[in-house]
Amino acid sequence: MITFDQRQKSDLHVRFVNSGADCPVMSGCEKLFTGTYGDWFFTHENSENALYIGCGKLQTPGVVTTKELFAVAAQAVQKIGAKSVVLDAQWFWKHGADAALSAIVLGLTLGTYQYRVTSTPAPAEPEADFLLSGMPSTTHTQDVLQSALHLAHGIVFAKDMTNCPGNRLHPMDFERHVVEFLNGLPIESELLVYGQLKAEGLHLLAGIGASSEYPPCLLILRYKGAPESKDVSVLCGKGVTCDSGGYCLKSSTGMEGIKGDMAGAAAVVGALYALSKNKVPVNVTACLPLCENRISQSALLPGDVLRAYNGKTVEVLNTDAEGRLVLADAVAYAVQKEKPARVVDIATLTGAAWAALGYTMAAAVCDDDDLYDTLEVASAHSGECYVRFPFGKEHRKMLDSKVADIKNTGSDCCGVITAGLFIREFAGGLPWLHLDIAGTAWTQTPNYAFEQFGATGAGTATLYELMKEEACFNDQ
Ligand code: BES
Ligand code: MN
Ligand code: ZN
Repeated sequence: MITFDQRQKSDLHVRFVNSGADCPVMSGCEKLFTGTYGDWFFTHENSENALYIGCGKLQTPGVVTTKELFAVAAQAVQKIGAKSVVLDAQWFWKHGADAALSAIVLGLTLGTYQYRVTSTPAPAEPEADFLLSGMPSTTHTQDVLQSALHLAHGIVFAKDMTNCPGNRLHPMDFERHVVEFLNGLPIESELLVYGQLKAEGLHLLAGIGASSEYPPCLLILRYKGAPESKDVSVLCGKGVTCDSGGYCLKSSTGMEGIKGDMAGAAAVVGALYALSKNKVPVNVTACLPLCENRISQSALLPGDVLRAYNGKTVEVLNTDAEGRLVLADAVAYAVQKEKPARVVDIATLTGAAWAALGYTMAAAVCDDDDLYDTLEVASAHSGECYVRFPFGKEHRKMLDSKVADIKNTGSDCCGVITAGLFIREFAGGLPWLHLDIAGTAWTQTPNYAFEQFGATGAGTATLYELMKEEACFNDQ
């Protein structure tokens, strides 16, 4: 539980200190704790338990550093076993106000996240009560705190889904978990099962999905937070619950983390949850192509040609480039049925995004500067970093097929761009934003204290903030 300090009794006081001269615990134990960024030190002084969190030379805490320092605090508190903890948040509040409060809540919540499938459940540790001091308790700050808790809950859901092993999360399991998670919220859901995908003409999704005995489906979720407005945003998330590569089989090391290939779809659901819990006045339709990519008699073979929902023919030269195929149908279907004002797609789409940017920056491709400006605002709020990739006619040419309208692989270069441009062909000319989170969705070694091995929940916070920004524009 996280609340504002109402002078409750507490077991522990947490203070954030810079390194150097102000570090109050230097005397007598000069090397034990020097206030190094991310270090912590527990002491008992003046009949009080105190936990010092090192902030190094940090002068102005930002979204990421605040989230990280409070994640460190939550981890230390868990280790110490304190039950009621006062955290002095004044410094953060002074610099960041509402944004700092949200970052604090996310850091405290995500810092001790764990995903496990063990035979004996982890000992039920009662969670600590966190009491924030040094910031006002008003109806406004209470609201900000509650909203951030909802977003944190959405991120935890995205992480849980992405961490869940492939044998426990087939496409229809994903659908069931999502519907359960969103139960009771004002979100309409519609499901196209395998037979309907074929009947409606979503042959790309049906084609990839046919590789598995666990059938594919398309899950559509509608949140109408601004019913008086006609403006709708479509969010399409790649939901490949396991990606072996199909006949273009991945190498054995390339298979690590293949269960995480639905991180895009999971992020969309996490964001939609928070939007609806927080009653953000915006209309969003999520469109999630869910499937597996395996080898079987009914799996696609390189060279196969399929007709997409929008009628275009696609030559499948590489069955491991399945994400763009299933997203293409989902995007085309959503554009046709939902009449949106813009389309955003998010996916663990290319190894090229990871190769170019690593684990902390995701790739973006966008054909609309206003929409991209909005992403930049959203990214500043979420603390997630996106790097815009350019594109030109020459990149689109790389997708020209000798036999069909388009092929699903590009050239030896520009993998992020060609993957994005493939999907753009299905967005009907609407403002389009593409987020490739292949590098950021999953981590072997955490880059920040608020991450753990495995899923990061990447994209959830940014999509939430992006849609919140769209809501602001509706008000004008
Ligand atoms: N899901 C993968 C991309 C991926 C790779 C995500 C590594 C996370 C980590 C995607 O379906 C894929 O296999 N992409 C291919 C495309 C290529 C065959 C054109 C890739 O990037 O190698
Ligand atoms: Mn693949
Ligand atoms: Zn994939």
